[in-house]
Amino acid sequence: MNYKPLQIGDLIAERPIVQGGMGVGISLGNLAGAVAKEGGVGIISSAQIGFKEEDFENNPRLANKKAIKKEYEKARRISPNGIIGFNIMVALKDYREHVIEAAKAGADIIVSGAGLPTELPEYLKGFKTKMAPIVSSVKSAKVILKYWDRRHNATADMIIIEGPKAGGHLGFSVEELESELDYDNEIQGIIDVVKEYERKYNKDIPVVVAGGISDKNKVKHAFDLGAQGVQVATRFVPTKECDADENYKKEYIKAKKEDIVIVKSPVGMPGRAIKNKFMEKVINGEKFTPKKCLGCLARCNPKEIPYCITERLIYAAKGKTDEALLFCGADAYKVNKITTVKKVFKELLEEKEV
Ligand SMILES: Cc1cc2nc3c(=O)[nH]c(=O)nc-3n(C[C@H](O)[C@H](O)[C@H](O)COP(=O)(O)O)c2cc1C
Repeated sequence: MNYKPLQIGDLIAERPIVQGGMGVGISLGNLAGAVAKEGGVGIISSAQIGFKEEDFENNPRLANKKAIKKEYEKARRISPNGIIGFNIMVALKDYREHVIEAAKAGADIIVSGAGLPTELPEYLKGFKTKMAPIVSSVKSAKVILKYWDRRHNATADMIIIEGPKAGGHLGFSVEELESELDYDNEIQGIIDVVKEYERKYNKDIPVVVAGGISDKNKVKHAFDLGAQGVQVATRFVPTKECDADENYKKEYIKAKKEDIVIVKSPVGMPGRAIKNKFMEKVINGEKFTPKKCLGCLARCNPKEIPYCITERLIYAAKGKTDEALLFCGADAYKVNKITTVKKVFKELLEEKEV
């Protein structure tokens, strides 16, 4: 298929695939750089990005700050002219600081979910960095666009619509996730909301659909619904270029459909993950007190949570997969071999020579 380039203001992604941000340590400079080099939008996750820094345990704030710059520069070396941005979760305690560090480093775009990024336009004043909120419903699209319009006299540069088949934290209740939602209607409703603001601001606001986009038919379906791009995460995990530990990639290859479950997360939203030994224990009601609280989330009471999300995601990033929280999308079981970013692009966009 010949899809049109994804145009985000003055930025042009020749191939309309945004790689979804994946924390902790799954989408860093290497994956984002490789995606940007292929003509897509490469996204680095800022969540505990400094976990490999020596001083991380003692000063996670500073370690994260340093790593934001380092990972951006790494991606930029791989793709000097591509589009490289950051995924920064609103739920992070240091959200504002991460946004400013990313913009200072040179980020082309900031994608923000796990909450609504109400003050993002304020934090990005004076930077050229584009803003892309993640929404999951007509309601959340209306709330954020109205708020930005009234409070900041600003609108989005791109909207990401993340559906119920995505990985990581999900903007749906467990009941919604268990029922088969007609999500196509919601996507079209969100597109209508976005159109209002396109007219008001006299600018194009591309809409990118995410969640379970795992083959060429799903890409085509998203475009048929009116999207200008797709955001893909799970398909990029078992690639050579992905920053995840090899053990983590192997868990995706091994996973069967029944191994993929909805889990509770200390972030306060449900998430989707692989049911490993650790998750079985959590499901059975075991509690895991963190060795040390690094104060990552704005709203988290270490005494009340079943496990520490940072600790368990860092185990995942380091390949201690039996002890880890292994986030994945609903279609993770469909991947059965390690491939390359180049091949994923060709396959999803139905280009020849796969
Ligand atoms: C391993 C993993 C980690 C993720 N981490 C984050 C994250 O830190 N922040 C975020 O906004 N989304 C996160 N996501 C969601 C993705 O960015 C993406 O929107 C979604 O997974 C797309 O669906 P797909 O995985 O089916 O392609 C994560 C997804 C996965 C699979």
